[in-house]
Amino acid sequence: MNRTESFAGEALQVVRGSRSGVAIAVAIHSTARGPAIGGCRIKAYPSWRDGADDALRLSAAMTTKCALAGLPYGGGKTVAALPAEGMDPARRPDLIADIAEAIAALGGRYRTGPDIGSTSEDMAEIHRLAHGWAFCRPESQGGSGTSSVATARGVLAALEAGVAPGSVDGLRIGVLGFGSVGRLICEALIERGAKVVVTDVDEGLRPVAERHGAAWTTADLVREQLDVLVPAATGGLLTVESAAACGASLIVGPANNQIAAEEVATVLRDRGVTWIPDVVASAGGIIHAVGREELGMDEAAVNAKIDAIGDTTNSVLALAREREWTTVRAARELAALA
Ligand code: PHE
Repeated sequence: MNRTESFAGEALQVVRGSRSGVAIAVAIHSTARGPAIGGCRIKAYPSWRDGADDALRLSAAMTTKCALAGLPYGGGKTVAALPAEGMDPARRPDLIADIAEAIAALGGRYRTGPDIGSTSEDMAEIHRLAHGWAFCRPESQGGSGTSSVATARGVLAALEAGVAPGSVDGLRIGVLGFGSVGRLICEALIERGAKVVVTDVDEGLRPVAERHGAAWTTADLVREQLDVLVPAATGGLLTVESAAACGASLIVGPANNQIAAEEVATVLRDRGVTWIPDVVASAGGIIHAVGREELGMDEAAVNAKIDAIGDTTNSVLALAREREWTTVRAARELAALA
């Protein structure tokens, strides 16, 4: 007999935007520690159900991320599931208004922020229309701005913990993705003496990367012999196949959803590749946003909390080693105790 799959979250709201016609899913995984927070993803999906599934999965990761970062929030996520052919840019204001309406309906139980496909400017518009509930508006509009610097800082804290403090000098590090966060990580690593090799789907970024002192490659960095691999592009990069061929000793980066399935973490562990889960390494952005905008923390307090990602990394790696768990399991178990 088939068992009914139980619903692991608290709530899932799916609406069809009255202006845009786009399906908007807001998943609230947990408000046990405080309001649910998580970014607003605007992206094409094969169907709205895939979008809703993604929202649920990503919202659960946000619960773990908030708990491990010691924040009084739970996990949520918004997914606006665009049709496969994308959307006419002229319709975007309609979509943003629909998203704002969906979020406003939750009355603050869920608060959003920028994610794939959404910007600080979108957050300003959502905040205006919903009368709040959106982080990371531009600083000129009263928000904490982009969280790229904070996210990069958190990844560096995790990376330093993973390689043992102070020993970045001379390491060969591959950075996959030269977007706003990837670029800041490259700069910092080069400054600390690492040999950085970078790749991005956008070849146009090559001169910028080389000017920064990074070597550009078109090779598949996952298979390259590296001391550290930094996934800084979109998720799902590590599959069972690519993990089996992974040439890095340590993987740590800001990308969300780095592993395509839970078993990938097992493959990495069994091959002796240390993976610092994204829920640990990528928390700098939310720490900065909620610290500055809602928790009344100054920049120094926020930075100290971001740097503490290094301690969390050590705890996760120690627990995983001790119990022979995957690092992601160790992260989840630690989060449950937090
Ligand atoms: N992409 C970020 C996240 O989901 C967006 C965010 C920033 C969400 C700040 C809430 C607050 O982690």
